[in-house]
Amino acid sequence: MSRPLLSLFALLFLIPLALAAQQGAGYVATLRGDIPIAEPAVPPRMEQTENHDRKRHRSYPMQPPTIPHKIDGYQIDLNHNRCLECHGRLAAEESQAPPVSVTHYMDRESNFLADVSPRRYFCNQCHVIQTGARLLVPNTFRDVDELLGR
Ligand code: HEC
Ligand code: HEC
Repeated sequence: MSRPLLSLFALLFLIPLALAAQQGAGYVATLRGDIPIAEPAVPPRMEQTENHDRKRHRSYPMQPPTIPHKIDGYQIDLNHNRCLECHGRLAAEESQAPPVSVTHYMDRESNFLADVSPRRYFCNQCHVIQTGARLLVPNTFRDVDELLGR
């Protein structure tokens, strides 16, 4: 490679790479605070899981709603899905939990299946509990309604 080409290469690729690596290192350091690697950091306090049974705001129409109750020990495996014991179509009348919506019965070709689709079986892939924990990294997400100025 000729010298001008080489410096162009350095400018375009190596410098951004080095900057990214530095930033990455910065993130790991902030999570540990200023504590040196050889010393054990004091872990943050375990936060209580929110268990107030009230719907949270959905940030966009396709957002999987967050879980407003504890799910400690709720088992999901081949033979057993604790979530569906309350959120399944047939369970809703007894449990008074909102049944999973119709999208949970669709395969990836948008056909409706008789039962919950395998791709919606592991609920916690998409639905998560909430805690009052402090954000570890800043989040500048803005709701579309805010962007539209409504
Ligand atoms: C014992 C019954 C029961 C079980 C088990 C259960 N839920 Fe729920 N869930 C409810 C009820 C009832 C509500 C309605 C709000 C409330 O009372 O907490 C609810 C609310 C929700 C919501 C909020 C829906 C919305 O529209 O905002 C989500 C999401 C949810 N549950 C997911 C789950 C997942 C995932 C699991 C399994 C890990 C699970 N639930 C297990 C009873 C249950
Ligand atoms: C691949 C992601 C995904 C998985 C896995 C998934 N969900 Fe959802 N869920 C969503 C999305 C997205 C929505 C909101 C839009 C919709 O209804 O499709 C939703 C909505 C819901 C709602 C609210 C329904 C309503 O009518 O408001 C409940 C309750 C729920 N899910 C429970 C479950 C349970 C229980 C499971 C496991 C059996 C599960 N979900 C698995 C993505 C998922």
